[in-house]
Amino acid sequence: MNRTFYYEGNRLFCEQIDLQKFAMQTPTPFYLYSKEEIVRNCRQVLQAGQGLDFLACYAFKANYNPGLLKIIRDMGLGADVVSGGELQLALRLGFDAQKIVFAGVGKTAQEIALAIRSGIHSLNIESFEEFLLVEKIAAEQQKGMRIAVRINPDVEAQTHDYISTGKHINKFGVSLQEALKIYRKALHSKWLKPEGVHVHIGSQITSPQPFLETIRVLRSFYEQLKKEGVSLTFLDLGGGIGINYENNFLNAEQPSTHIEELLPVYLQGLADLGLKLVVEPGRSLIAASGILVSKVLYRKETPLKKFLIVDGAMNNLLRPSLYKAHHEILPLLLNDSAKEVVDVVGPVCESGDFLAKDRPIQQMEQGDFLTVGGAGAYGQALSSNYNFLPTIAEYLVDGGKVETIYQGQTFEDMAKNLGL
Ligand code: LLP
Repeated sequence: MNRTFYYEGNRLFCEQIDLQKFAMQTPTPFYLYSKEEIVRNCRQVLQAGQGLDFLACYAFKANYNPGLLKIIRDMGLGADVVSGGELQLALRLGFDAQKIVFAGVGKTAQEIALAIRSGIHSLNIESFEEFLLVEKIAAEQQKGMRIAVRINPDVEAQTHDYISTGKHINKFGVSLQEALKIYRKALHSKWLKPEGVHVHIGSQITSPQPFLETIRVLRSFYEQLKKEGVSLTFLDLGGGIGINYENNFLNAEQPSTHIEELLPVYLQGLADLGLKLVVEPGRSLIAASGILVSKVLYRKETPLKKFLIVDGAMNNLLRPSLYKAHHEILPLLLNDSAKEVVDVVGPVCESGDFLAKDRPIQQMEQGDFLTVGGAGAYGQALSSNYNFLPTIAEYLVDGGKVETIYQGQTFEDMAKNLGL
């Protein structure tokens, strides 16, 4: 299996780039992505849809760096957006409007108006009240709009509570009963075309079970809608396919994502309905391509713990703090010291600021570099200026070349935003 990140001797490489060499001449912390990994993941998604009426829309929320979005656009994918900002970004970058789907539980009137005006593929409706507003705005614009109702199938996604979306305790979508009410009303709408059903049950899903249950719900709901006289043309199946956060760098036996294992199962379970199948992958396209590179600032021991204090922090990568998420941590230079158990923490003034807890890792010293893997999705996208720290630079590796795709902020940029 072709690995994007690998050790040659004791040095970690991304494609043909020696990361220690690169880090020595680059201010840390920074994000770095592999183009090869993104392209491979896009290909696998497209491959799963081959022979079907199929549209893959990348979920911008996972990472909206334009340097990465252009790769995905050029692979022929569309965009899954959840705000007016993401929609404008997609349009400005030349994503085909007919390949844009817009989801979100709280769209504003301005966002809805922009979506209708732009002639996007479809708008996903998440409540009866939203439906009424979309209808009003479409009537004002005298413009038709294809809609899908986001159903909440009450399916257990078997993932972290905060990223489960398909249970009735979650704020997303509507029950099948409520959805029916919306479809019935939409049948009489002059402007809205109820042609789709949308579902997204959660993120970082690593087994087929939740998708199989969703297929079952979708198939029976499809039959019910048919009886009601609603003729669907598409199903929007959401995203959610997980990656291998454990060991995702170096285990050559293990693919970096679950795309090839799960996506064909999901699509083939619905293919015979003859509808267009839309998917919204985010993490699976981009997470494994990205690393966060940090420098060890200090070592410190308390009577109970050993800490590696590094310059990357929760304001760069929130996932460990927010979800107790596991990310692989690897040194850029391997040494042959025995492993010690440490907490890898950042400079932010919170005990919740950590990148890893109780992690066995080779002995590292001040000035050494380490990487946090699987950081390409929901990494920079969830970053903040907490502690008045700047957002950090992003680099894209393509073979033997490295391109700066985001400069990072300076103090002056941050001050300017405050009008200073
Ligand atoms: N479609 C919808 C409607 C979504 O809500 C999401 C993600 C996606 C697609 C993309 O899902 P993906 O393929 O990336 O799993 N910040 C969390 C993840 C939040 C996901 C939110 N919705 C994390 O870092 O794990």
